[in-house]
Amino acid sequence: MSIKYSDQLIEEVSQRNDIIDIVSQYINLKKTGKNYKGLCPFHNEKTPSFVVSEDKQLFHCFGCGEAGNVINFVMKIENLDFFDSLELLAEKSGIDLSEYRNDGSNKEKVDRKSKLYKINREAALFFYQNLTKTKNVGIKYLLNRGLSVDVIKKFGLGYAINDWEKLNKYLLTMGYDQKLIYESGLVIKRKENEGYYDRFRNRVMFPIISTTKKIIGFGGRVLGDGVPKYLNSPESPIFNKGNILYGLNLARNEIGKEKKLIVVEGYTDVISLYQFGIKNAVATLGTSLTKNHAGLFKRYCEEVIIAYDSDLAGQAATIRGMDILDEVGCRVKVIKLNVKMDPDEYIRSFGTDAFRENVENAVPLIDYKIELIKNENDLNTNEGRISFINKSIKVIRSLKSPVEIDIYVERLSKEANIAPNVIKSEIYGNNRDKKNQYKYNKNNRKFNYKNNRYEKNLKPMKKLEKNGSIEIEKSIISLCLSSKTNYEKVTSQINSHDFLNEDSRSIFNTIGDIYKTSNKIDIISLLDQLDFEKVKLLKQIKERVVPFEDIDKIIKDLLISLKIFKLNEQIKIIKDEIRRLEVEKNKEEGDVEKIKELRGELLLLVKELSNLRVN
Ligand code: UTP
Ligand code: MN
Repeated sequence: MSIKYSDQLIEEVSQRNDIIDIVSQYINLKKTGKNYKGLCPFHNEKTPSFVVSEDKQLFHCFGCGEAGNVINFVMKIENLDFFDSLELLAEKSGIDLSEYRNDGSNKEKVDRKSKLYKINREAALFFYQNLTKTKNVGIKYLLNRGLSVDVIKKFGLGYAINDWEKLNKYLLTMGYDQKLIYESGLVIKRKENEGYYDRFRNRVMFPIISTTKKIIGFGGRVLGDGVPKYLNSPESPIFNKGNILYGLNLARNEIGKEKKLIVVEGYTDVISLYQFGIKNAVATLGTSLTKNHAGLFKRYCEEVIIAYDSDLAGQAATIRGMDILDEVGCRVKVIKLNVKMDPDEYIRSFGTDAFRENVENAVPLIDYKIELIKNENDLNTNEGRISFINKSIKVIRSLKSPVEIDIYVERLSKEANIAPNVIKSEIYGNNRDKKNQYKYNKNNRKFNYKNNRYEKNLKPMKKLEKNGSIEIEKSIISLCLSSKTNYEKVTSQINSHDFLNEDSRSIFNTIGDIYKTSNKIDIISLLDQLDFEKVKLLKQIKERVVPFEDIDKIIKDLLISLKIFKLNEQIKIIKDEIRRLEVEKNKEEGDVEKIKELRGELLLLVKELSNLRVN
């Protein structure tokens, strides 16, 4: 797949991009002796085993074995092929690769790829004309299914005529080479005789379009009950099923403020949802989620909502998919439709609002897993309750924050009618399996946010940690509540604007107001001034254990952690903006300048961030 540039050019691009700079844009590196060290972005780890050598300009992870130079790093982390990574790095350092593309063999490969795109585009147009300009059974089928003309246009649907050679002949007359037409997968070689015949016949056609708006393949559906129901383009130099999310070309602009994508199983699910106004859906085209898919999601959104069919196979696939997404740092939720329908059928039967409600009610990964376990066990028997608790505990152990663990323990306890303390002792200790023991002690518990959130945060491209910051904010407020001296120590370094969560900000302000006229906080009068949501939050804050030792150090750590969250938020916003501008095909005047400017800003923020972390 990769395109060969001269070694000299590759060398030049690598030299102009210092590996330390590039890696630092994704993870926090600390200098240790001659090398730099950080948490590996390619696997989950708690202690850094990812080493970058400035001298050698190489990286190596002792944990997972990933290794390479700056180009390999970009390939891996941005999920790009060699050519695209080289291009990205070249652009970063002001080299225009197009000037170097004249060397014979490269040109041929680039040309071949772009010809394949052209052939696909030509074919899509041909299918589209067949569907819309002639009398045919395809359009009848689609309209019968309830698809609107608008949506047919928007997704460029088409019809492959019931003929053995129509498309092949057409492409030949357009001047395309037979070998290339064959390579595109649109035609099949005859076994007995000479020649080729069309792969797609008498099917409605779904062009598969990349985020760069290139047509990379097709799915073709029979007009009824035949098999296979869907026929897809075979893998080709430009089409790889494990790499593509159907509909992402449109959905990427519809992720909204909450940065959500919905993932469904089929072409028609994406299209129907779109038609009914839910435009942030993509499909995995019948395959289960791959790491590459997860990479794509991470690149375009913060939350993934899975809306797969609700059969058992679907549930298993859902779980697998979830874990892979969770690993790359996307928030994952699952929609549980209460009827056996796919999203296409569901939204046609019950409408947009009903589907939206399901999206709102989607449950987090952990809840979904626990629910499945619950369904497998009969809680009316002792055996069932024990098995339910034991299996659920395994799931809960994966949670990082004790606060979260507590919440789930409470829930499990109610469901299985087993005392919370018993469940907790199973989770935290007295465990026969020493290796599996959850690391837990009293100190750890109080400041777990630091050990966990902080480390989690070192991962690249982490989703916005607003939710994470709330834990820190709670601790800060808890300290402020406990004494005016603490409050003054905190306000000497930050003010309420530094809080990311509005409710905690407002509690903090109210506390400030009270301290203006009093030296102590009277909880009753504080409660009086808060609305319901904030009272709930205050209750959680009150439950926190306030430490009495090392208060200054603790305050300092908390404030630094909060600043780190804020910086990460800003960094994320700038990165998103840079990415948006970079993929913009029709760059406007000033965009390139803007990108440069943003890069400058980014660098400053990243530096600030690493300074904070060193302190
Ligand atoms: P489904 O069988 O759920 O199809 O397969 P669907 O999307 O609901 O299709 P309709 O509504 O019956 O038209 C989900 C996806 O799996 C892939 C396709 O990408 C399909 O959209 N698939 C399915 C195939 O590739 N081949 C098949 O034969 C069937
Ligand atoms: Mn369907």
